[in-house]
Amino acid sequence: MTTELIKKNIYFVGTIDWDRRLFDELIPLPDGTSYNSYLIIGSQKTVLIDSTDPTKENELVENLKSLNIKTIDYLIPNHAEQDHSGAIPKILQLYPKTKVVTNIKCKDMLKDLLLIPEDKFIVVNDKEKLSLGDKTLQFFLTPWVHWPETMITYLIEDKILFSCDFFGSHLATSDLYVKDETRVYASAKRYYAEIMMPFRIPIRKNVEIVKQLDINFIAPSHGPIYNNPKFIIESYSDWISDNVKNEVVLPYVSMHGSTQKIVDYLIDEFINLNIPVKPFNITKTDIGELAISLVDAATIVIATPTVLTAAHPAATYVTFLANVLRPKTKFVSIITSYGWGTKVVEQLSSMIPNLKVELIPPVLIKGYPKEQDFVALKNLTSLILQKHRQIKII
Ligand code: FEO
Repeated sequence: MTTELIKKNIYFVGTIDWDRRLFDELIPLPDGTSYNSYLIIGSQKTVLIDSTDPTKENELVENLKSLNIKTIDYLIPNHAEQDHSGAIPKILQLYPKTKVVTNIKCKDMLKDLLLIPEDKFIVVNDKEKLSLGDKTLQFFLTPWVHWPETMITYLIEDKILFSCDFFGSHLATSDLYVKDETRVYASAKRYYAEIMMPFRIPIRKNVEIVKQLDINFIAPSHGPIYNNPKFIIESYSDWISDNVKNEVVLPYVSMHGSTQKIVDYLIDEFINLNIPVKPFNITKTDIGELAISLVDAATIVIATPTVLTAAHPAATYVTFLANVLRPKTKFVSIITSYGWGTKVVEQLSSMIPNLKVELIPPVLIKGYPKEQDFVALKNLTSLILQKHRQIKII
């Protein structure tokens, strides 16, 4: 790894994880990720903002050595999660005079998670400033981007916002800055869908805080630095709004072809009605792609065989995920193919209390779909069209 100069006395000293393919043993990372940390050398104080994942702590240490850093006065964790905080014990071991500057919630979490002693901390409050001599940091508490203790740090003189997870993207790249906004948009949207979407409503306040600041760069702790902050702020403003798009997400699983036939028919019908449809064969899909599609879609239709009276476990898993991700979806419907009996609709509909949706009448199909079943499916697509018209997205 190498360090990179952002501006005079401000360095990227983070690490890039090119090979990581799973986060939290749950979230696919097709493009790897990075754990960005930043070094600011003020005329009186030297600061490290965020550290790195513990698997990369030696790289961070090498980066600091390469800059001949003998003293770190303050280490500022914007967030307690270990992908950013995990190397703090190592840094404190190598730089024993360093003080950890953070808010009280983050302090308590770091004591719990990393066993950092109380006397290492300096606690700061919302909007508090910290002088580094010729540079000044200001802290803003921004809960729920991603945990309740998250904050952001603003370097006033250079107009740089260090936002940690907020605005991040799981993207390993040698580009220090965003070069290709289309590519970064996709990674940032994936990141938003997987990490931030459950907190869409509380994030609104935090976006407003950011909009009040005069920012040249947003330096997150995952992915490249935004040299055009407007790009990512406007993207977030869209994602966290209540606006949905004329789209249907169609997660499905098929065991013997009946549900596949249903799904094939639905895809054609939605195309005929000019409703963009995104089918996801749950047993094959990247679950992150499904999460991305949930950011904007007005409607979700879940299609599953009945297995032992319930939904196929893969469909149950996706329904659980949709509930915890809390997308702004307006309508949900359920389709099942069953052999002799089914409780799929009762089961799945009871699993989505977090979704503020209207349940569109389900379609239950005994065995392989027949003529009357295709009529019921066609009626379902017509009803979805009508619903989309009612909320004026067509
Ligand atoms: Fe990148 Fe919530 O940690």
